[in-house]
Amino acid sequence: MDNRRIILDCDPGHDDAVAILLAGNTPGIELLGITVESGNQTLEKTGRNALNLVQYFGLDIPVCKGVPYPIIKDVEVCSAIHGESGLDGFDFPPLTIDYDKRGAVEYIIETIRSSKEKITMVTTGPMTNLALALRVAPSIVENIEEVVLMGGSFTNGNVSPAAEFNILTDPEAAYIVFGSGCKLTMMGLDVTRKVLVLPEIVERMEKVGNKASDLFCQLMKVFNQNQKRVFGWEGGPLHDPVTIAYLIDPSVVTLQHVHTEIDISHGPSYGRTNCDMPDYLKRETNSFVAISVDVQKYWDIIEAGLRRY
Ligand code: RIB
Ligand code: CA
Repeated sequence: MDNRRIILDCDPGHDDAVAILLAGNTPGIELLGITVESGNQTLEKTGRNALNLVQYFGLDIPVCKGVPYPIIKDVEVCSAIHGESGLDGFDFPPLTIDYDKRGAVEYIIETIRSSKEKITMVTTGPMTNLALALRVAPSIVENIEEVVLMGGSFTNGNVSPAAEFNILTDPEAAYIVFGSGCKLTMMGLDVTRKVLVLPEIVERMEKVGNKASDLFCQLMKVFNQNQKRVFGWEGGPLHDPVTIAYLIDPSVVTLQHVHTEIDISHGPSYGRTNCDMPDYLKRETNSFVAISVDVQKYWDIIEAGLRRY
């Protein structure tokens, strides 16, 4: 694995929480900071969840509040899956840390501009913060190694027939990022819906028996109850950590280099990631899209991440 210096932009969120857990304590990954936006819940709630997680895991990194709204749309939260708090299922100790004084967009620009090594941006929520940073300071593209995102799908969506939640929450933001010229690696529903936190996975992680596995199992029990009620699944898809697992071991997914365009028309496919897998339109490729995932390897990476705490 190459050493990576990353900024994790997220909307915790049960699966975002596991992405933070993994990114915060993996040799070869330097988690520089966390930026948050609204998505699974309002910014006040996702931000508080991020602070609680950073404090719980003992991470000495800045947490920067992002933009409270999508660029054009109104806020649409996902309380059916993540609950009223955005992270239902775990009682954190009293919060004693606070946000960094910089906003997310300022932090992203400043950190990327000042870094001597290229930065990897990982986004596991709507892409509002990164899109605005790219608009305010387009030259940061030159110091971005890669944008690794959880979002989209080259098949169906999960909040509309066409669109996945992170993209549909802020399609215009995704459109900006996918047109920025950054190297983009997209972990879509096509692979993330293959990594389901089935009861045997919870039982396996329970055996780790430390603070990280305690949090994982308590959060996943609520996550799974909500996923079963909404989608009827026995285990919810652990979407977001696929981004970090890829940084740890790129062979965990198989990628295809294609052209992807975000639909920002206001029809039934608004927010769709149109991945031209057969290359019908012969346009310049701009994204590496995950087409398969090694499920066993993924859970081995998750378990190893829990054991490092
Ligand atoms: O569609 C799945 C994505 O939406 C995940 O990032 C989940 O946390 C929610 O934000
Ligand atoms: Ca998320």
